[in-house]
Amino acid sequence: MSHESILLPLLRLSCQTLTTAAAPPDMPIPLPPLSRQIALQFAATFLIFSAVWPFYYLRAAEWNWLAVALLIGAAAFLIARLSRQPWWWQLIHLLFVPLLWAGLQMPVSPLWFLGAFILLCLVFRGAASGRIPLYLSGAATSLWLTRLLPHQARALDLGAGIGSLLWPLSRQRPDLHLVGIENAPLPWLFGKLRLKNTRIDWRWGDLWAHSLAPYQVVYCFLSPAPMAALWEKACREMQPGSLLISKAFPIPDALPETLSGPEDDMVARLYVYRIPG
Ligand SMILES: C[S@@+](CC[C@H](N)C(=O)[O-])C[C@H]1O[C@@H](n2cnc3c(N)ncnc32)[C@H](O)[C@@H]1O
Repeated sequence: MSHESILLPLLRLSCQTLTTAAAPPDMPIPLPPLSRQIALQFAATFLIFSAVWPFYYLRAAEWNWLAVALLIGAAAFLIARLSRQPWWWQLIHLLFVPLLWAGLQMPVSPLWFLGAFILLCLVFRGAASGRIPLYLSGAATSLWLTRLLPHQARALDLGAGIGSLLWPLSRQRPDLHLVGIENAPLPWLFGKLRLKNTRIDWRWGDLWAHSLAPYQVVYCFLSPAPMAALWEKACREMQPGSLLISKAFPIPDALPETLSGPEDDMVARLYVYRIPG
C-alpha cells in the first residue's frame, strides 16, 4: 500500500473531525456522533503510525509501543482540542490508547474485558446509539406525576428503563393505562420480570419507531440530545391538547405550560408541554 493511499483517507477523516472548528464562539456546537469520535481516534492512530513507521523501519529498531501509545494519545487530544470537542471527549481521546496499552500489559485474560464490554452494551445500549444513558426516576417523581395526569389517561414512559417509574405509578393511580417502551436488553428483561403480574403494558422497541398517537400523556427522562427531535415527533403524532412531560431536560425553543417537581432540584424538575392545536 502506498504512503499516499494511507494519507488521503487520513486527511479526509481529520477534515471531517475538524468541521466544527469553524462555528462562531457564541454558537453551541452540537454534540458529535460516536462515529465522529471513532474517526478521530483512527485519524490520530494513522497519523502517528505513518510518522513513526519509517523511523523504526529504517533503523530496524524494535518498536517502543508505550511511546507510540503516548504519541497517539497526544495526537488524538490535539485533534479533539482543535476541533473543539467537549472536554470529556478530549480527555477520553488523550487516555484511550495509553490505557489500552496499559490494559494489554496486565496479566488478565482479554475475555474479561470483552465480557465487561458486552455487559455494558446490554445495559447502556441507549447511551451508545442515541446518547441516552440509563438512570432512573423513582417513587418521588411518580408522586409528582400523579397530580398531573388526567383521570383514566393512556400514558407512555418513553425509554422506560427497568420500570422504576411505572411500577409505583400503577399503584398510586390504578385508573391509568400505562405503557413502557425500552430497547436496552438487560433493563427491558429486568422490567419484564418485575412487572409480570401488573397491568402495565411493557414493550420492547425503539422509541423513535413507536407511534405516540394513542397517548394523552407521554413522559420521558432522556438527555438533552434528543429533545428537539422528540418535540417534532410529538407535535406530528400526538393529539392537540395532550401532554409531553420531560424530566430534567427542557425542549429547546419550546415554552413549557407548567413546571412541576421540587423547586430546589433541577434534576427532578418536570417540564410539562401541551401539544399545540
Ligand atoms: C434516563 S433512562 C429513564 C428510565 C425511566 N424512564 C425512568 O424514568 O426511570 C432512559 C432510558 O431510555 C432508554 N432508551 C434510550 N434510547 C432508546 C430508544 N431508542 N428506544 C427505547 N428506549 C431507549 C435507555 O435504555 C434508558 O433505559
